[in-house]
Amino acid sequence: MEKSSGKKNTAVLISGRGSNLRSLIKYSKEKKSLIRIVIVVSDNFSAKGLNHANKFKINNIVIKYSNRKSFENRLLKLLKRNNVDLICLAGFMKILSGSFIKKFYKPILNIHPSLLPKYKGLNTHNRAIQNKDKYSGATVHIVSEKLDSGKIILQKKVKILKSDNKKSLEKKVLKIEHKIYPKAIIKLLASD
Ligand code: GAR
Repeated sequence: MEKSSGKKNTAVLISGRGSNLRSLIKYSKEKKSLIRIVIVVSDNFSAKGLNHANKFKINNIVIKYSNRKSFENRLLKLLKRNNVDLICLAGFMKILSGSFIKKFYKPILNIHPSLLPKYKGLNTHNRAIQNKDKYSGATVHIVSEKLDSGKIILQKKVKILKSDNKKSLEKKVLKIEHKIYPKAIIKLLASD
């Protein structure tokens, strides 16, 4: 694997649409980017995000998720083979085990559509609206054994308007997700 440029070999894991993957690909193509996306992995054969990987000729693979252990074993081998230094979860909807995190032993980032520690897990936008929160947002954090609880690298707020519904809030939050994920990577790797 080519390493001379000093860019980190990165794996992006997705389960669906892949708009964050697209923003990471865009960032990786910048001259000064700190990452090279060497592989995109999906647990879902029909993930639309795979189209982005294909479009940019990025190596991609679907690993069938029949159970966590076999998925993680195959994933670990793949990461090793591709000399992966950093994993970015981008709408990857499975939970990685503590044992996987220990074995990989390098940073794993996740992007989450809420202002963590608020609203871990699913359905974040509805929960923020139902609770009449004034703000929502997105968080990039290190993946740890406890769901959505690892060290926060970057977070950005958006205002929730009275007129907002789940769809409009999701759209606003996604827009900032696409901005903060590359910034969080820079923040994490700049301290390397
Ligand atoms: C994003 O909003 C991401 O934050 C969220 O899924 C969406 C994926 O969109 N991730 C989680 O909820 C993880 N718990 P995308 O496929 O268009 O990037």
